[in-house]
Amino acid sequence: MATMEHRALLGTFRDHLVAVDSPDVQRFLAGFDWNLQPRELVVESIPAVQHLQSVKPGLGDDLVKALLRHANDLHWGRTYTSADFSDHFLQNYGWVELFGSRGHFVSGEMAGGFLLLGPGVDYPDHHHIAEEIYLPLTDGSLWSRDRGRFIARNAGDVIHHPSGVSHAMKTTDRALVALYLWRGGPLSEKPKF
Ligand SMILES: [Fe+2]
Repeated sequence: MATMEHRALLGTFRDHLVAVDSPDVQRFLAGFDWNLQPRELVVESIPAVQHLQSVKPGLGDDLVKALLRHANDLHWGRTYTSADFSDHFLQNYGWVELFGSRGHFVSGEMAGGFLLLGPGVDYPDHHHIAEEIYLPLTDGSLWSRDRGRFIARNAGDVIHHPSGVSHAMKTTDRALVALYLWRGGPLSEKPKF
């Protein structure tokens, strides 16, 4: 994908965040310079990308529409291998980093992108040093924090994980697409279980 198109997706990502009425989100964004340098990445797909076909963006859901439009021009990745997880998990999980230490744009300060989980995925308790925000862009996924009970989360919710806090996610009959942000820790850290 041409850099101009990547930048358009980055702009839609930023516009989405700026409009979120959440002190945690606005604290993450405070002072962040969105004028990021592009990084040359090859296009890379993963099996989970197929689940985007079942995602129906709501009216005015510009970010999901932009992701669906550009999904085949991005460098999708997975943190884990078959040493960590079942084949089912690896076939139905992945992410794309739009900016950060590995993403389509360079930032050592904050990472941001999209997490994708297909239906019927159990992403067990894990934690990492970076502080994290998730904004589900689809409805009906289940989230647990601090090994507490699972709570259904929907598009429009804001989920904040302070540094080192354990968290887990589950999907049931539909896929999850979520925007994520990481800051305040190593941006390429592999989460611990
Ligand atoms: Fe996390």
